[in-house]
Amino acid sequence: MQELHHLSVKRSLTVGGDRFKIYLDRKTIRNRVSELGAEISTDFAGRTPILIGVLNGAFMFLADLMRSIDIDCEVDFLKLSSYGAEKISSGVVQELKKIDASIEGRHVIVVEDIVDTGLSMEFILKIMSEYNPASLSVATLLHKTDATKVDVRLDYVGFRIKNLFVIGYGLDYGQLGRNLADIYVIEDDS
Ligand code: IMP
Repeated sequence: MQELHHLSVKRSLTVGGDRFKIYLDRKTIRNRVSELGAEISTDFAGRTPILIGVLNGAFMFLADLMRSIDIDCEVDFLKLSSYGAEKISSGVVQELKKIDASIEGRHVIVVEDIVDTGLSMEFILKIMSEYNPASLSVATLLHKTDATKVDVRLDYVGFRIKNLFVIGYGLDYGQLGRNLADIYVIEDDS
């Protein structure tokens, strides 16, 4: 693991032809994700929640969040259609992959990378509630508070951010940038 110590956080980089600068570094993210995991562990003590990760963006947050949860829990995934390479949410979403698990009577925590307009989350919560879970909660790493158009209840929020386009830690720009360990903001928008 020696080589990890030589990894440094880049201050700025280019992805898809656009310049991005550092917004939330890996340590800040790690600390906050641990706090959310601890909160979930306390809130769901004595129960076995199932985390439903929203593909593709939430995979990295979900993996770290799950490792911070110290009670029994399960995982499954769903996938919505993406907005393509656009930086603006079109709000048009479709279910591309359904969950495999049976969540009737279960404590469900939907795990998202980012809530922007909130339309995707509203859609997901509608689908999930049709399965009659015992409880339905939401964990999102990021929430663009000023961009949210619909009233969705967010139980666990990592960071409330401005209406800025961000990449990294699972979040993409035309499918690129998901592998970055830190979160970057587009330079034009900030
Ligand atoms: P919403 O339906 O507008 O809330 O959008 C949610 C989805 O849009 C997220 O799951 C992301 O896939 C995508 N998204 C929204 N904002 C950003 C961003 O700043 N960077 C990358 N993806 C984003």
